[in-house]
Amino acid sequence: MKIVVIQGPNLNMLGIREQNVYGPMKLEDIHGQMKSYAEQNKLEIEFFQSNLEGEIVDRIQECIGDADGIIINPAAYTHTSIAIRDAIAAVQLPTLEVHLSNIHQREEFRHKSLTAPVCAGQIVGMGPFGYHLAMVGMTQILNEVAAMKQQQAKAQAAVQAKA
Ligand code: DQA
Repeated sequence: MKIVVIQGPNLNMLGIREQNVYGPMKLEDIHGQMKSYAEQNKLEIEFFQSNLEGEIVDRIQECIGDADGIIINPAAYTHTSIAIRDAIAAVQLPTLEVHLSNIHQREEFRHKSLTAPVCAGQIVGMGPFGYHLAMVGMTQILNEVAAMKQQQAKAQAAVQAKA
């Protein structure tokens, strides 16, 4: 099973930008921790960061037929991008939204997420640990989806055997 991690604008600046808000950890170190978790849990993982809205839309679309789940921090686009929201809704894959900071505690313009309503869940305010929580949550979701598909296949086989 494959998870694609998508990081929005300025997250490549983690470790440099506003350390009082986002902490000292670099994006590559966060990804290193996620990769270890993925390896331990036999999950495939791929990382993508872009400062461009259209590139993020393209990467979400590319997840069709390629990924089983998406973990996304759309960063500032969270609050502005109908295009990213529509892309998440279009691909119909379980998606978890992560924010390092507690967006609800910050400036009013950060309180609204356009993307959260089309995501399975949102994790905010936990710093880099939020990405680990998202990995645990996504593992659970993917296991539930797999179990459901197995059950459906069994039920269908039983119906076909009767016919
Ligand atoms: C952020 C919160 C956003 O409001 C902000 O624009 C970011 C980072 C977070 O992870 O806390 O760039 O998504």
